[in-house]
Amino acid sequence: MNFHVLTLFPEMVMSGLCTSIIGRAMEKGILSLEAVNIRDYTINKHKKVDDYPYGGGAGMLMQAQPVFDAYQAVLEKIHSEGRQGGRVIYLTPQGRTFHQSMAKEFAKEKDLTFLCGHYEGIDERVLEEIVTDYVSIGDYVLTGGELPAMVMIDAISRMVPGVLSNEDSGETESFSNYLLEYPQYSRPEVWRDKRVPKILLSGDHKKVDEWRLEQSIEKTKIQRPDLYEKWAEENQEYFIKKAKREARKRNHMK
Ligand code: ADE
Repeated sequence: MNFHVLTLFPEMVMSGLCTSIIGRAMEKGILSLEAVNIRDYTINKHKKVDDYPYGGGAGMLMQAQPVFDAYQAVLEKIHSEGRQGGRVIYLTPQGRTFHQSMAKEFAKEKDLTFLCGHYEGIDERVLEEIVTDYVSIGDYVLTGGELPAMVMIDAISRMVPGVLSNEDSGETESFSNYLLEYPQYSRPEVWRDKRVPKILLSGDHKKVDEWRLEQSIEKTKIQRPDLYEKWAEENQEYFIKKAKREARKRNHMK
């Protein structure tokens, strides 16, 4: 997977992403990341990249020319490496809300280009010309698209095969099936008088799995009732099996 970021703050993107798991995946050649400084492509002699909006209004807009030319440079590089251009994602609060399922979809691509806006936005004409996807990371407004691009690159990267050491660990975590992750514990067995739940020390993998599922369900019900509803709708058989189990238990006790 090759990430390309069109930005006015390339150092911010590079320093934020070239560490830890993502950094290691880059060293291994599974991922690549380039941050292209839009300002390097302006034809304005004062290196200006913004101007007032026609029709008036607050703030400045990023102009079409430097954004378009910066993108052309990215495109040329991708073509020179024998690939097609791929999708271009514009980070904006007006886009579709980013989601784990989107991360999985984007992870299948060979190249992704992120366009980070600043000021009051970008001239609509260049957006129409180059953007394929408008994406928001949530219903709040940030000062620029860099943090959203970094959030997306992190979430997409961990869905690229080989990036996480345990291939399927991305699958078993929160959101992959609407349930939040169950609580986890490590040594010591007792910490500040708090014991690790007994079941986890039992060595009974079936019981442990059942307990974890129950914990996930309870946690989701409390923290994210919206997700719980979706899960419950798709997992009616869980409730049927549970009711049968409980009925059997009651019969045993009689
Ligand atoms: N740019 C500013 N705010 C944003 C948000 N919430 N999501 C994506 N891009 C943004």
